[in-house]
Amino acid sequence: RTGARVERLPLARFTTLGVGGEAEVWFVSDHDQLAEAMEAPYRILGGGSNLVIADEGVPERVIRLTGPFAETDLTPDPGLSDGETVVTGWVGGGVPLPGLIRRLQKLGLSNLEGTVGIPAQVGGAVWMNAGTRYGETFDGLHTLEIVTPGSRRQVTPDDLDWGYRASGIPRNHIVARVRLKLRRSTPEEVQARMEFADSARKGQPKMKTPGCAFKNPGGVSAGRLIDEAGLKGTRVGNAMIAPEHANFIVNLGGANSADVHALLGIIRERVGVPLELEYELWP
Ligand code: FAD
Ligand code: EPU
Repeated sequence: RTGARVERLPLARFTTLGVGGEAEVWFVSDHDQLAEAMEAPYRILGGGSNLVIADEGVPERVIRLTGPFAETDLTPDPGLSDGETVVTGWVGGGVPLPGLIRRLQKLGLSNLEGTVGIPAQVGGAVWMNAGTRYGETFDGLHTLEIVTPGSRRQVTPDDLDWGYRASGIPRNHIVARVRLKLRRSTPEEVQARMEFADSARKGQPKMKTPGCAFKNPGGVSAGRLIDEAGLKGTRVGNAMIAPEHANFIVNLGGANSADVHALLGIIRERVGVPLELEYELWP
């Protein structure tokens, strides 16, 4: 045994929606522990901010990146950095994105401030190229380290077929750590850009939620389409389509996964356009 901490835990506590039953959680803090965790069927859990997990939990191991996989080395690489560009050391896939964005702002390093307000971990944000109208995760990536059972490789964004809310990285290929590519700016400029991006969130609900349920089809706001279908405030059990923004499902307290699934079904039935889910449903 490599010494990874393994515990059976309710997954609800690892999610922003607050829904989900138990699984065996593997807290891994080095590559040997990660390799051992990947010896049986597994899932990789990030910030749990895009997940709807069944009340029954999941049968697979659930891997959480901790220790050095949650550490940040922003030291500029002298060989790759210059007066304009900074390429950092390794940033762990388990690092919370909001704290990273704050640190970059204080250092006056730009490229990722458009992702302000996204409650992801770095690995989860990379995996789905989380973003807003003002920028996305791939704007600030130099190198990605991707781990699969039996392999560990480094790739660059050019090696991947990434786009809107997609990295091109297959499911369960683990983003263990990344190096960032940033533009030298000033704390003031980065702060101003952050505030501008964040102002687009004024209309988003403040309750427990996994963010937007559906991707925007062809650049049209899915929220607007769901709203126009008259669905704001629709409630099933303790889950509700948010009155503030129709692409957000919120947990009013004690919601279960079936409530959320029922609301997703109602939306699909009532909106005339096919919608692609942004949430991940486990299992
Ligand atoms: P999780 O929810 O834990 O997992 C999501 C998927 O990523 C799963 O398939 C998981 O297996 C995979 N994954 C997680 N970690 C890794 C890893 N290290 N390697 C490989 N795969 C991994 N999203 C946006 O894009 N823009 C927004 O503006 C936005 N706003 C939000 C606002 C709120 C209030 C909330 C709750 C969510 C919002 N989201 C937004 C959605 C969510 O934050 C993103 O989808 C984010 O990328 C999910 O990252 P996570 O680390 O929480 O991943
Ligand atoms: N609108 C409505 N009714 C609604 C919701 C929106 O009419 O219920 C209208 C708004 O009035 C506005 C337009 O639709 O005119 C766009 O709305 P908004 O600015 O809220 O943006 P969005 O396209 O709905 C996207 C992302 C969000 C991101 C915001 C801000 C997607 C699926 N959503 O929302 O990302 O935070 O822009 O950049 O791409 C997420 O992906 O989880 C997420 C929250």
